[in-house]
Amino acid sequence: IYLNFIKDDRWTLMLDGLGMTLQVALYAVLLGVVLGLIAALMRLSQFRIGRWRPLNTIASIYIDVVRGTPMVLQLMIMYFVVFGSVNIPRILVATLAFGFNSGAYVAEIFRAGILSIDQGQMEAGRSLGLSHRQTMMYIILPQAIKNILPPLASEFIVLIKETSIMGYIGMQDLTKAADVIRSRTFEAFLPLITAGLIYFIIIFTLTRLLAIMERRLRRSDSR
Ligand code: ARG
Repeated sequence: IYLNFIKDDRWTLMLDGLGMTLQVALYAVLLGVVLGLIAALMRLSQFRIGRWRPLNTIASIYIDVVRGTPMVLQLMIMYFVVFGSVNIPRILVATLAFGFNSGAYVAEIFRAGILSIDQGQMEAGRSLGLSHRQTMMYIILPQAIKNILPPLASEFIVLIKETSIMGYIGMQDLTKAADVIRSRTFEAFLPLITAGLIYFIIIFTLTRLLAIMERRLRRSDSR
């Protein structure tokens, strides 16, 4: 009877899991973009107190620490340490953990995109009387966005796969759903391979769309 129940429930479990996977990946990439842009601008900022560049230092520490430690560990620290004694929804904890992690990688994406724009553009803006900030906002970033968009889309793809570790804090994403079915039915092959196929179809589709987007961005580049 129990196995029958599971049989009918399998797809619900998988689909709910997929929903959780996509939700967390999406929220996290959005948070990652915000944090990443802030961190990138901090790293490129000219602000200094004497020889000390506080914004620069803070951003560098954030980026190095996040990229220098495993994501699983960051997720567990966020859940068991940072929010260990407060009761907030796990989906929020996961979003914060993945978003915080993503921000460090996105910061480098933004930084590379901004640095890819010729120095002369900043000089031209400054000589027209725009401030550093105005030139960044109205001259540099609009051009840099072309180099930033494709790797940002890959970041979303990375997150769809990376969020498969959220089972570590007791969340039921697609991967965990497959594993729950495995443990209840003692059937490993079907659920795990199915989960793999679902990930693959989604990511393969996104990769193809990304290739199309990249081609269009490159074509519109010839002015
Ligand atoms: N798996 C790597 C880690 O554990 C990558 C983390 C996530 N990467 C990313 N671009 N958000 O550190």
